[in-house]
Amino acid sequence: MATPRDARRVDAFSEITRDLGICFGGDYNPEQWPREVWQEDAELMVRAGVNLVTVGVFSWARLEPSPGDYDFAWLDEVLDLLHAHGIAVDLATPTASPPPWLGILHPETLPVNADGVRLAAGSRNQFTPASRVYRESALAIATALAERYAVHPAVRMWHVGNEFGQVDFGDEAAREFRLWLRERYGTIDVLNDAWGTLVWSQRYRDFDEIVPPRRMPYLVNPAQSLDFRRYTSWALERVFTEQRDAIRAAGATQPITTNFMGFEPLTDLWEWAGEVDVIADDQYPDHGAGTSSSDIALVQDLMRSLGEGRPWVLMEQAVSATSWRPHNLPKSRERARLDSLQAVARGADAVCFFQWRQARTGAERFHSAMLPHAGADTEVFETTCAIGADLRRLRPVAGGRVEASVALLFDWPSWWAAEEPGRPTERLEALAQVQRWHRALWRRGIAVDLVRPGTDLSPYATVLVPQTYIVETDAATALRAAAERGASLVVGPFSGVADGNAGILTGRAPALLRDLLGVSGEEWVGLPDAPTPLRVDEAWTTGPAEAQAVILGERLRADGADVLARFDSGHLAGAPAITRHHVAGGTAWYLGAVVSDDALSTVLDDALDAAGVVGATSDRLLPDGVEAIQRGEALFLLNHGETAGRVTLPGPRRDLLSDADVDGQVHLAPGAAMVLIERHAE
Ligand code: GAL
Repeated sequence: MATPRDARRVDAFSEITRDLGICFGGDYNPEQWPREVWQEDAELMVRAGVNLVTVGVFSWARLEPSPGDYDFAWLDEVLDLLHAHGIAVDLATPTASPPPWLGILHPETLPVNADGVRLAAGSRNQFTPASRVYRESALAIATALAERYAVHPAVRMWHVGNEFGQVDFGDEAAREFRLWLRERYGTIDVLNDAWGTLVWSQRYRDFDEIVPPRRMPYLVNPAQSLDFRRYTSWALERVFTEQRDAIRAAGATQPITTNFMGFEPLTDLWEWAGEVDVIADDQYPDHGAGTSSSDIALVQDLMRSLGEGRPWVLMEQAVSATSWRPHNLPKSRERARLDSLQAVARGADAVCFFQWRQARTGAERFHSAMLPHAGADTEVFETTCAIGADLRRLRPVAGGRVEASVALLFDWPSWWAAEEPGRPTERLEALAQVQRWHRALWRRGIAVDLVRPGTDLSPYATVLVPQTYIVETDAATALRAAAERGASLVVGPFSGVADGNAGILTGRAPALLRDLLGVSGEEWVGLPDAPTPLRVDEAWTTGPAEAQAVILGERLRADGADVLARFDSGHLAGAPAITRHHVAGGTAWYLGAVVSDDALSTVLDDALDAAGVVGATSDRLLPDGVEAIQRGEALFLLNHGETAGRVTLPGPRRDLLSDADVDGQVHLAPGAAMVLIERHAE
């Protein structure tokens, strides 16, 4: 069987967009509908401009009604029909939802939760990634599909499973977890040391004594929990790579992917990213929350970064309402359009939906779709068609790159370890801090790449570390090299606290960064509910008039850094809260607390100014809700807000969406979108 690296074809997605332009479509589940409907589906897809659909994600029971008894005739017909209508197919292995017979014949394929309850069939995701029988059954159907359709002209892409994010605590998972631990640690003594098992008498005599972190009487060992998360991500990834390699081995040459779920806590996407040929993601922002547009921009920046800047696929989103929230708000036509254009702005070359035709039955009968229950004579279908038309106008954008000079560190093990119970405060959430810092740059129209700790930072003028709990030597070395090269570095609180096994690094903190930051600390403390005032030093000429700290503070001592603000009262009174340290070529700021928005923005502005980083437009701060990002030749302006805003253009431009010529300041009504190119670039 091919090795994973040999099995990758990272350039193959661009071959598709070269032929089709920006891909547009969605999940298509024809197995849920009688054949008479298929013809109408194909005709309406053509009307809407659909050029790519994902077929078969949940069709295992239809493809293999009984063990080993395959029925491909219906799928042959569907693929031929789609091909006859010029619609390309992303063919899925149906392995996210095994048929009931698999669990009946092999109960060990069903997942077990932390309480020891084996979950039943009747929904979906009823598999344990550890199960040998499940994996073999999944490989068999994936192989059968690939052998039959590897050369089918409709099939342009393969899609393995769906939204990997299952966790299992059963006996087979326990056995696999032990093997994974043996591989990682070699001997039980090394594991005992790494996990610190002398605490609470947890010392193991043998790997066989270890179980997954099942329901326990009290708090779990954080190192055990961290490793189980690593193992779970790895076990899911193995399910993906096994099927991917089987598809390749059957002769398929199309790109192979699976749909990620943004900042999903069960999959370490830095580990996964190298295994897919094209990054794909499902995005369901909650537009009831005020920060949804910048939060989803962050996810989109992550997706672009996972693919090292290559175009990615928005595999699923909703045209209007979802049905799985307790209360589901619809999307306006403008909102649906903005969500689609935003993905393209931030690097997507495919905009797809869940799903093509709204389900009449099943759990998702109220989830919106491109073609609703009421049919084609609807506003929702008009919206679908309008998005298709917009995307056709954006063909020149396909393949373009977003160039970012700001890097933002994010890492799954750090996230996992920082949020284990038993810490100074459960109110500090790493992702919320990352969102907050990223939002400040989004408001300035400044492009950001996410990077994994330890990555070479030489392409970046500014490096942001909102909260990276685990900092190992490679990460510290890369941060130091960036600052010494002249970059601005800004590090937030509760960073560099622990080693890779979640053990606290001893000595003044952050142990591996304190020389670089010129500041060191000795305790992390929860702050009172009322914000703690900070005293801004007069020497901080750009500093805000007032500043506060909330959630978490650190008792710091300046060891060479300038103190820009100190705690004014409380347990940390007098201690530095914000510092700045000039290093060889660059500058390193440290925030020893979660500081108020103005203070954070000012530090970030100082850092960006020092590094000469500017936004996509000539405005330092964009109007509320307005997003601006340059992708290749195109400047995207999107107004997600409730009010109109004006944006200053860098020169005369033509709008690809409306064909209008614009210059100077443009007025963006709420919901408005422009994709501007220089006139000579047409
Ligand atoms: C995704 C899933 C789809 C559908 C959709 C509804 O998580 O992949 O199959 O369930 O959500 O929002």
